[in-house]
Amino acid sequence: MSLSARLRTGFAEAYGAAPLIEARAPGRVNLIGEHTDYNDGFAMPVAIGPETRVAFLPEAGADLRVAALDFGESDCFDPATVSPHTEGGWRNYVRGVVDELRRAGVAVPGGALAIAGSIARGTGLSSSASLEVALTHALLAAAGQSWRALDIALLAQRAECGFPGVRCGNLDQIASAATTAGHALLIDCRSLALRQIPLPDDIAIMIVQSGVRRGLVDGEYNTRRAECERAAAFMGVAALRDADEAMLAAAQGGLDERAWRRARHVIGDNRRTREAAEALAADDLIATGRLMRESHLSQAADFAITVPHTDSLAGLLNTAIGDEGGARQTGGGFGGAVVAIMRRARVETARNAVLANYRTPDGALPDVRVETPAAGAAVIAR
Ligand code: GLA
Repeated sequence: MSLSARLRTGFAEAYGAAPLIEARAPGRVNLIGEHTDYNDGFAMPVAIGPETRVAFLPEAGADLRVAALDFGESDCFDPATVSPHTEGGWRNYVRGVVDELRRAGVAVPGGALAIAGSIARGTGLSSSASLEVALTHALLAAAGQSWRALDIALLAQRAECGFPGVRCGNLDQIASAATTAGHALLIDCRSLALRQIPLPDDIAIMIVQSGVRRGLVDGEYNTRRAECERAAAFMGVAALRDADEAMLAAAQGGLDERAWRRARHVIGDNRRTREAAEALAADDLIATGRLMRESHLSQAADFAITVPHTDSLAGLLNTAIGDEGGARQTGGGFGGAVVAIMRRARVETARNAVLANYRTPDGALPDVRVETPAAGAAVIAR
């Protein structure tokens, strides 16, 4: 059953009615530029096929009833006086979006809402961002408003920082909201300038799940963020986006070693991301692949967010792919997925190398998927 059919069937079972509005938002995989977004830098994601869909039947003056079909869980609250749910989890992504819309002056109606998705949670493909973005679309449509994709993304990001309390950057939500089918998206996370980069048909994007669950990530994430802020303050810049290799050299010895290494990764990945965008636009997979390999090594040695399983997976893929393309750990880190880019002719070689030589920590075969860049979020029925 398609995701849309599952959503509509689940909606009918939960509420005995049909929805009026349906919205979708894709997950994302980041090709390069990691932990650069909250340093006001650059990142280059693509949207992927797996997505979250929400269906909504507004009813003015009613509470908002929410059914999370994939979990068999529900929630119910008054949108006008929404507050965080004590259990946290998916409910606070929903409540957080409603709260931010309310703060933005949008009259969010109550009614019946159902959520279903095809992005496995905890796999680093931004299931939470896609939920926030799809929901923002649906609730805005119900309120008779239509916003720019970027504004939807920024509201969704604020929603994630609010009730759920994750100090994330804007990469995931912009990737879900503002991508175009067949394109990678170069994001300037400070100016919010976006550049769509067409990907030729013979380029394949492969995502391999390491099977390492990202435990304790929020704490590590916030620590990395604080280290980056410390480095920026030491160098006298507003954000690491404004620092360069010369400032880094001058800071060596004065700034503590750990913050200095974090800064070296961010400054390097900002440069690599811009270079990779040029390389990809020129269909130069040799340069793109080299930059991805360098980015992985920098995440391992300086940002300290890779784990032995993602190191070995990236190594395996890089050997199988050869010069034309490359692989690196993608997303927040400490496990999750490895992303690789290569010519389509290489896909079977790369897949076979992974299946023959890599096992998850549980000894299982890893999930390997090949993605074509999907379209960004939209309201698809109303
Ligand atoms: C997570 C965050 C993003 C970004 C990445 C790392 O996905 O939600 O904002 O910081 O990690 O690049």
